[in-house]
Amino acid sequence: MIDAGALAPYRDYVLPEAFIPELPGYYRGKVRENYDLANGERILIATDRISAFDQGLAVIPFKGQVLTDIARFWFEATSDICANHLRANPDPNAMVVQRLEMMPIEIIVRDYLAGSTATSILPMYKAGARKMYGIDFPDGISVNEKLPWTIITPTTKAGHDAHDAPLSAEDIIERRILTPRQWDDVAQKAFALFARGREIAAARGLILADTKYEFGFNAEGHIVLADEIHTPDSSRYWVAATYAERLEAGRQPDSLDKDFIRNWVRARCDPYREPIPEIPGDVILEAAAAYIRTFEIISGRGFILPESLEPAPLERIRANLAFYWRR
Ligand SMILES: Nc1ncnc2c1ncn2[C@@H]1O[C@H](COP(=O)(O)OP(=O)(O)OP(=O)(O)O)[C@@H](O)[C@H]1O
Ligand SMILES: [Mg+2]
Repeated sequence: MIDAGALAPYRDYVLPEAFIPELPGYYRGKVRENYDLANGERILIATDRISAFDQGLAVIPFKGQVLTDIARFWFEATSDICANHLRANPDPNAMVVQRLEMMPIEIIVRDYLAGSTATSILPMYKAGARKMYGIDFPDGISVNEKLPWTIITPTTKAGHDAHDAPLSAEDIIERRILTPRQWDDVAQKAFALFARGREIAAARGLILADTKYEFGFNAEGHIVLADEIHTPDSSRYWVAATYAERLEAGRQPDSLDKDFIRNWVRARCDPYREPIPEIPGDVILEAAAAYIRTFEIISGRGFILPESLEPAPLERIRANLAFYWRR
């Protein structure tokens, strides 16, 4: 098992950013850096940045690689359900994808009453809301409990610095974001992807509590799954074995997602109001070990550490991607 101690030599083996001036069409996202190529492809490079509370919190060794590996695992495990954008994986941190015309919405699928952001159903439910996202909710569901049915809670996809807002299926059609037929197709695909996620996660002793999908249209107008799928950045995973006893005891489920760093921060400050203290090295390495473990549990495969610290991640990525500007 790869624990924090085994990762100590890799403390600075990180990818804080991935700017490659030779590549065209640069877009810096919160976590990934993107390049739009002239041939209709897009390169997504997952950095090691962790983003939460509307800011970058830290840089975690191997996080970008773990996220890429997990997304790749799930794209493969769901390709019979829905076409996806993945074309090639020339570097552990990089995916070459088919560039799509992205839908301006995020499709969140949920099995549990959880979450803490403004668009999560839990804070709204606690405040007394019983109709959210066009769905009626019964009284008496408790925090982190299973919902009576799997639901879809779409949101707008606001750009940098703006906040996502809840949408109902009716809103999506009335605002002509999608036709009724396109919406049915997206909803059906999202439910089917989530069902596969739930099933594979359960076989690994995990609960996939919720996740976010992004879809786009290809040149033929077909709906294709984009972005990432079932990664710890886009999903909430819980440990199934301890779920019931912890719920009973009024505790948070054991989680495999980025709650590790979030909880460390929350225990020390109000992250939306106060400055966030610098996260110490041992906590960073614990987080790295947790990400690696998450990959191993989900994929059932071993994570292989690089034998050498040279070349540094960005140099390796440049070498692996040189083909895309030299061709
Ligand atoms: N196949 C694709 N074609 C075009 N854009 C894509 C595709 N897949 C993902 N994207 C977009 O690439 C970006 C990935 O970067 P990242 O997720 O780090 O950005 P982000 O900070 O979430 O940005 P945003 O606020 O724009 O979502 C996102 O904007 C995502 O919507
Ligand atoms: Mg994103």
